[in-house]
Amino acid sequence: MPTPAAPSAEHGPAHDSVFLRACRHEPVEHTPVWFMRQAGRSLPEYLKVREGIAMLDSCMRPELVKEITLQPVRRHKVDAAIFFSDIVVPLKAIGIDVDIKPGVGPVIADPIRTAADLQRLRPLEPDDVPYITEAVGLLVAELGATPLIGFAGAPYTLASYLVEGGPSKNHERTKAMMYGAPELWAELVDRLAVITAGFLKVQIEAGVSAVQLFDSWVGSLAPDDYRRSVMPASTKVFDAVADLGVPRIHFGVGTGELLGLMGEAGADVVGVDWRVPLNVASLRVGPGKALQGNLDPAVLFAPTKVVETKAREVLHAANALGTSGHIFNLGHGVLPSMDPDALTRLVAFVHEASAR
Ligand code: CP3
Repeated sequence: MPTPAAPSAEHGPAHDSVFLRACRHEPVEHTPVWFMRQAGRSLPEYLKVREGIAMLDSCMRPELVKEITLQPVRRHKVDAAIFFSDIVVPLKAIGIDVDIKPGVGPVIADPIRTAADLQRLRPLEPDDVPYITEAVGLLVAELGATPLIGFAGAPYTLASYLVEGGPSKNHERTKAMMYGAPELWAELVDRLAVITAGFLKVQIEAGVSAVQLFDSWVGSLAPDDYRRSVMPASTKVFDAVADLGVPRIHFGVGTGELLGLMGEAGADVVGVDWRVPLNVASLRVGPGKALQGNLDPAVLFAPTKVVETKAREVLHAANALGTSGHIFNLGHGVLPSMDPDALTRLVAFVHEASAR
């Protein structure tokens, strides 16, 4: 079993932020809050600066990345920024022909399906992504005491896009390879682990305060299959960054049955979707790890009073963790049609309701 990372040894100005203290299970004066996909289409200021610029092109412009990353911090007063990029950026950087089609998601021109195709998945070098290093540097300088979260897609989720050729509901080709060609599959996820670890290292070396591994679609797997076919690759990613002194967050959707294994893979913080209350999740994950989550994003479409009641329920369930070790978030990302003012109000409410 991998050893959990030592509590963050990073000494940047964000070291004592509520977010990093909660990741380390240290006392906090209020529960920190940020939102997955807090930057993006819910914000009119985002739509404005993105006008006429393709999604993946925008990820390669450091000044634009800085502006987009800062927008939700300014507006909502969240306790952490998340680096504006995408999980397919490292794939594009090593030469995979990938595009993000609006309203669809990542589309791969030539899917990866054979042993010969795997040769296209070479390790990522820092020189492949100079714009990432530059954008993180600009952001860290600007953010001061507000932590910046770096991220990457996990091997399973990346494999699902590469094998299917795009978004998919049932992951049939992906699972056909996983079950039917286990050696090919193992090499695929191992190569993706190397690329992902490389992408996270670039961000950590450039100064991010924490990293989140998004295994968004891994909830489609049974625990035994996860343990056998996916966990070794995700563990390899976490192990590769274990000694770099930043907390590692692990998140997926529909992962109620996988929470224990996802913690075991090497996370310091386990992200939980809205289907499992945090008091139950804490039993599944076990002691020593912080939890992140888990308000149903759709609750934000209900009246303010209801949002507050449901947010209070999340805070209450998190009391099972003790007085620290909870990072408030949604159970998945902000939806483009969400009212940004409802998110701003939610941040203020969580700060106030959790004040101690
Ligand atoms: O604020 C943030 O959270 C930071 C930015 C961020 C983006 N993508 C920007 C983005 C993050 C963390 C991601 C990760 C990502 N990308 C994931 C994992 C997170 C999750 O939601 O589970 C996944 C599965 C992807 C792949 C992807 N990229 C999808 C499914 C889409 C949506 C396609 C669509 O149009 O509906 C994207 C595009 C994307 N990535 C957008 C943003 C802001 C929207 C594109 C646009 O604004 O034109």
